[in-house]
Amino acid sequence: MKIVQITDLHIANEGTETFGVDVRQNFLDVLKAAKELLPDLLVLSGDLCYDTGDQHIYQWIKARLDFLKIPYTVISGNHDEPGLLAKTFDMEHMLVGDELYFKRAFGKHVILFLETSKGIVSEGQLEWLSHELDHLSNDVVIFMHHPPLIGGVPHMDINYPLQNMEEVQRLFNGFPHHISIFCGHYHVEKVVCSGNLTVHITPSTYFQMDWHQENFKVDHYQVALREIVIRENGTVESTVIYLPGNRF
Ligand SMILES: [Fe+2]
Repeated sequence: MKIVQITDLHIANEGTETFGVDVRQNFLDVLKAAKELLPDLLVLSGDLCYDTGDQHIYQWIKARLDFLKIPYTVISGNHDEPGLLAKTFDMEHMLVGDELYFKRAFGKHVILFLETSKGIVSEGQLEWLSHELDHLSNDVVIFMHHPPLIGGVPHMDINYPLQNMEEVQRLFNGFPHHISIFCGHYHVEKVVCSGNLTVHITPSTYFQMDWHQENFKVDHYQVALREIVIRENGTVESTVIYLPGNRF
């Protein structure tokens, strides 16, 4: 199956200054490129909203996604509100308390979608995750907004990391198969490996960060999506595709 991941849209309300970036047009450009890849599934991996969760913004995004006629799903980032997100995207029945985490099966491939909008994987979710992993006997693919490993991006690792990443890593490392994790949040393209984990950090559709700096600094404004192919035998391939232009 082919999945396209789009992340960190940071769509603002009309009239909000977004540092000169047309975040709506960026998203539309990336969606057009995504459609051309003919994916079986489109995943928006959090930070759909510019600052805080906003139903009008979610509705605007949903209308664009529905128009594509491609199956899609969404998870929350730290700039989202899972309850509003679930309500707007008809996923309210999937809420666990105020969290939106879930499992979906595509043929024999199981994909887990986690919730880290508060910067942690909650105790309740860890219990659920542990139970799900116990019942899986093959490699697994997981989407979550925050990388569960230090990403080598000082500004993000120091200021905005997944707060309980050691606990999450222990759980993942106890799983006897490989885990491919697809994240956003860091606004960079990176791959980080540790034990049975391969963490792919996908660039944003807003801007990319200078990953050498401790202080916030934009590296460039070229936007991207990630194409992920899961083969019948479970092999996972992934490629970041940058859109031409916008590199100013
Ligand atoms: Fe984020």
